[in-house]
Amino acid sequence: MKPVKVGICGLGTVGGGTFNVLKRNAEEIARRAGRGIEVAQIATRQPNPKCDTGSISITDDVFAVANNPEIDIIVELIGGYTLALELVLKAIENGKHVVTANKALIAVHGNEIFARAREQGVIVAFEASVAGGIPVIKAIREGLAANRINWLAGIINGTGNFILTEMREKGRAFEDVLKEAQALGYAEADPTFDVEGIDAAHKLTILASIAFGIPLQFDKAYTEGISRLTTADVNYAEALGYRIKHLGVARRTDAGIELRVHPTLIPADRLIANVNGVMNAVMVNGDAVGSTLYYGAGAGMEPTASAVVADLVDVARALTTDPNNRVPHLAFQPDSLSAHPILPVTACESAYYLRIQAKDHPGVLAQVATILSERGINIESIMQKEAEVHDGLVPVILVTHRVIEQRIDEAISALETLDDVVDKVVRIRVEQLN
Ligand code: HSE
Repeated sequence: MKPVKVGICGLGTVGGGTFNVLKRNAEEIARRAGRGIEVAQIATRQPNPKCDTGSISITDDVFAVANNPEIDIIVELIGGYTLALELVLKAIENGKHVVTANKALIAVHGNEIFARAREQGVIVAFEASVAGGIPVIKAIREGLAANRINWLAGIINGTGNFILTEMREKGRAFEDVLKEAQALGYAEADPTFDVEGIDAAHKLTILASIAFGIPLQFDKAYTEGISRLTTADVNYAEALGYRIKHLGVARRTDAGIELRVHPTLIPADRLIANVNGVMNAVMVNGDAVGSTLYYGAGAGMEPTASAVVADLVDVARALTTDPNNRVPHLAFQPDSLSAHPILPVTACESAYYLRIQAKDHPGVLAQVATILSERGINIESIMQKEAEVHDGLVPVILVTHRVIEQRIDEAISALETLDDVVDKVVRIRVEQLN
């Protein structure tokens, strides 16, 4: 059978990795796909010294690739929203299949892209957009197709996890670790996407859609980053038996779907609490299968290329199949997507870690306990660090039982009006993940 012709747009970290994996494993890949997968053209603004592109046609114009009649599949690895969207829509209009690693593009414009792709009968595959090399989209969309998914929770930003790990294990400074993540090619072009949780929210939006069968709704995701975390909270969490991770959580409730990214205390003995460095992990809980865990490299040249190439193999196998009988883009049939709403964060339920900076006076703990109990908030554990009294102030650290966020907001407002409480109360959500 004739080889499938591929055009790679973007020869940076992931593009370069994709090119090299396709070349190195060409024979093995052809045995799997049933035909060769051949790079026919590459669009890049500059050559990648790690890639020996030989006589392959190179252009700096991505649309030359999208309009190249020889090419069957466009691999979009340029990132960003604007040019990438134009490129993908042009490729679809030209009847080409698309493989992309662009989570921002799928999370924000995916509904439109998939609608156009359906009209044209083409595939848009995006495994590499979430959790790098971990085939978690395939696992949820196909492997767990029997289940009603209850919730999923994941460490889905490698850069953020790398920063948290290096800070906790080696006491390194935030900025210093971020620079290393950039040098290693893990970080986004704008690294605030990593540290402020935007990248994780893109990925969570995608996971939630394929888990619950809802349209992509990135604008409704609650997003909180790791830049305000302090070493003190990391250490107090440890003392309470928890580890702080930057987690994306999507949970189905009767009222709606929780979609939230934030630093989270997780019991230190959970497997996911021990996922370190650039590694990612996603827990998915289904009604039939129970809890499952997917683990692997969340970023980097060849791990991400692994997912891109797997999509290319899938597309190559599906080229001759009936477009109406392919795996739906968002796992559920497009006319069966649910309108179950995304909940505002104030309606989400979680347990909470609170750090209250209090004056070292008798009766402070009683006042704190009263404010919480008046709002129906149960305290699970409390720790007052007498040893750390500075300037007459003592940190009071407590963990609550699960409660609706609005109640905690009200309690924090009341705590902050107490004469004996100084500074803002620090609040970090807690998930048991059991
Ligand atoms: N910046 C992303 C991360 C790259 O660190 O996870 C992979 O999506």
